[in-house]
Amino acid sequence: MAKYIVEQSGPLRGEVQISGAKNAVLPLMAAALLSEEECIIRDVPQLRDVSLMKEILASLGSKIDELSENTLSIYTEDIISTEADRELVTKMRASILVMGPLLARKGRARIPLPGGCAIGARPIDLHLKGFEALGAQIVINEEDSYVEAVAGPQGLIGETIYLDFPSVGATENIMMAAVLAEGTTYIENAAEEPEIVDLANFMNKMGAKIKGAGTDTIKIEGVPHLRGAKHTVIPDRIEAATFMLAAAITKGSLHICNALPEHLKPVIAKLRECGVRIEVGDDDLIVRGDLGPQNHTDIKTLPYPGFPTDIQSPFMAYLTTVNGSSVVIETVFENRFMHVSQLSKMGASIETAGNKANIKGNAKLRGCSVMATDLRAGAALVLAGLVAEGKTEISEIYHIERGYEKFIEKFAALGAKITRVED
Ligand code: EPZ
Repeated sequence: MAKYIVEQSGPLRGEVQISGAKNAVLPLMAAALLSEEECIIRDVPQLRDVSLMKEILASLGSKIDELSENTLSIYTEDIISTEADRELVTKMRASILVMGPLLARKGRARIPLPGGCAIGARPIDLHLKGFEALGAQIVINEEDSYVEAVAGPQGLIGETIYLDFPSVGATENIMMAAVLAEGTTYIENAAEEPEIVDLANFMNKMGAKIKGAGTDTIKIEGVPHLRGAKHTVIPDRIEAATFMLAAAITKGSLHICNALPEHLKPVIAKLRECGVRIEVGDDDLIVRGDLGPQNHTDIKTLPYPGFPTDIQSPFMAYLTTVNGSSVVIETVFENRFMHVSQLSKMGASIETAGNKANIKGNAKLRGCSVMATDLRAGAALVLAGLVAEGKTEISEIYHIERGYEKFIEKFAALGAKITRVED
């Protein structure tokens, strides 16, 4: 298995180009299933999750061509299967996003029940509640742990759906199921993430009639048909936030390009509270961690526009190094403190009680062998390794490489001493 070796690196300096957003490109690729015409998606990051989504779409009948390193053509003239492969679904939870498009286009979708993962049980009850509201019959087959959704004889019928929690995936799946339904659908208490807006913009280019994406109520007027479209993926706000924290924790100075400050307001606000200087442009930021002392702050993760749960662990790594103690509360996932034990191994002093963590500042971090437990926890350990004394060896790095394009190259170009070794 491959590992990262991270050494104490001093202040990072230079310019980094942010890639297209992983959490936008995956639903965009699924939405391409909705049309029998060609869709072109640009700024597609080269990630393992994208490769998995390509495999899933191909197994359903899509013809996929890489027009360039970051441009995909997806052409699904015919859907040859309405069942997602078990092995692929268990590798990537986002595979469930093919359910909505399959249901919309073919009236049927069958997928293996996605397992939980390191950060929580992650059920799909809200996705299924939405499909049922649109008239689909849901059958869960416990013994072979499959779930099947079958539309009624007249296809899907628009309805008003209230989401008990503003689930990102459920909002996306229901939006994609509703675009070809008869009549109008309202999703209430919808997720408001920028990735939802990006998906709605893409489907509207295909001929959908979606209004309100980015607010808590989304209106979808069903249309009979969707044409192909071209679309550029929004920048990855979580990758951008990760590099903002790299500038802060190493007391460096980074110019972060292809990043939308509009999508980063909570992270900008919190880092400014800590004393980090941030200048924002239209599509870039300059982050200065070299202009003076950095102090503690408190974080509470919330659905967008609140503080993003995906930045909780990298931000916690940073908080171990500032002056004073901080409190971090995780409200989105029930088990997203797996990185605490690993940071503690490096010398951090963090106490957790339920979904609350108390972090002592000014930790003298020491390099040692640690393990990435999920994508963002892995990134947190890299940030800690950049300032820890000695060498930090990080295993299970496949988590990191599923979600950060050219991770090593981008960090090394900024002066980080980080290498990838095969075990
Ligand atoms: C998306 O996951 C992201 N993944 C996650 O990013 C992100 O952390 C999450 O949204 C929250 O922002 C992608 O977009 C591919 P949810 P998703 O449905 O859609 C519960 C990363 O690191 N829930 O908003 O799975 C669920 O258990 C990943 O890039 C239900 O109870 O997130 C969780 O506690 C990690 N029933 C909460 O809602 C459901 O039917 C948020 O889940 C669905 C979700």
